[in-house]
Amino acid sequence: MALRSEVNADVPVAAAGEFAPLRLGATAATGSTGSTGAGPATLSVWPPVVLAPMAGVTNPPFRALCRRQGAGLYVAEMLHARGLCEQNARTLKLTAFGRDEAVRSIQVFGCEPQEMHDAARYLATEVGVHHIDINMGCPVRKVTARGGGSALPARPELMAKVMAAVVKGAGGDTADAVPVTVKIRLGLDDDRTTWPDALAAAQGEGLAWIAVHARTAAALYSGSARWDAIAQVKERATIPVLGNGDLWEAWDALRMMRQTGCDGVVIGRGCLGRPWLFAELAAVFDGREPADPPRLEQVLAILREHGALLVDFFGERKGVLELRKWCAWYTKGFDGSARVREALQRIETLAGMDEWLAQLDGSQAFPAGALRVSRAKRGGSQDQVSLPPGWLAAEECEGVESCESAAG
Ligand SMILES: Cc1cc2nc3c(=O)[nH]c(=O)nc-3n(C[C@H](O)[C@H](O)[C@H](O)COP(=O)(O)O)c2cc1C
Repeated sequence: MALRSEVNADVPVAAAGEFAPLRLGATAATGSTGSTGAGPATLSVWPPVVLAPMAGVTNPPFRALCRRQGAGLYVAEMLHARGLCEQNARTLKLTAFGRDEAVRSIQVFGCEPQEMHDAARYLATEVGVHHIDINMGCPVRKVTARGGGSALPARPELMAKVMAAVVKGAGGDTADAVPVTVKIRLGLDDDRTTWPDALAAAQGEGLAWIAVHARTAAALYSGSARWDAIAQVKERATIPVLGNGDLWEAWDALRMMRQTGCDGVVIGRGCLGRPWLFAELAAVFDGREPADPPRLEQVLAILREHGALLVDFFGERKGVLELRKWCAWYTKGFDGSARVREALQRIETLAGMDEWLAQLDGSQAFPAGALRVSRAKRGGSQDQVSLPPGWLAAEECEGVESCESAAG
């Protein structure tokens, strides 16, 4: 039996027919995420596994490494709608997709319906994406303070307008419309739950699914994700529900789907420095025992390749800067890694990284203790979710439009 932690000791692999592929698009599958060549207009995602959009993470190099491991849907990082509308060079760079990336999936955030419409239209027509996800879950101050991310579901009318605008920009009800989904948190905080409004709006505006990170914005990444809340969303939903939060091992995905009844899973921190998690997920959903995770020498080979891909994509300087955090994530928990971690955070070149990696004993097996540790975003909660002034009162005014200017 492959390495697994105590909590998953008795979890069986999926039985034949136990889970169904995720459907994305107007009709049942005409293409699949395992396929190559020109991307399909409608998609069947099997296994029902989605790489979470992660800013600074799910760029073309990392997606390439993940895709190689197994099928699934691999979402690019979130882009600001305004950056797309204004053709900001840094934003446009992140709309790049690999030549072999048959399915182009991306996330957008913003709170101005017209901007979101134009951004979606640009993504659908100019970039040629096959899936657009709307970010309505980001808890970060610089996003929520401008009304984006998890601030938006607290304004149900505006949220519905934004969803409708993105759907329209993505092609509306035309035959080749790009499917639109949304990713949310449970609410602003424990007293201000927003998922019921978000679900109603998503269903009302024709979104293809709703993905739920089962924490509030105030909770950030603290505590455990509330899988029970995913079950509540699923109970009420008429569209597919994807569960997200604390999926560290492939077995966790099976447990979440069995416990909550959700239709698919979204994998975030669990794959940081562990792209082979997608091979393990593919195995357990196909009813097979996964292979053991790689030994350190194999992990370092992936890290070196990741470094080369980052340098290729971003150029030497930015590529190596981006690589620093990955050095810590890939080596987490291995003997001797703590000693070299600080030096790896200062590397200037790929050769410099190699010198430090050479000090590690590559024959080590993957440490069981590193299976369930967060490689990013540890730490506490936030007392207040930052919102634009007057944000929550705005829809109590006569019309949403008039309030937008009041909200600033
Ligand atoms: C480094 C990092 C960047 C993230 N960026 C985004 C983002 O751009 N859009 C988004 O919807 N969520 C973002 N998230 C949240 C994840 O998509 C996911 O919801 C969260 O990590 C919980 O899932 P997990 O427990 O599997 O990590 C980010 C998370 C991390 C760790």
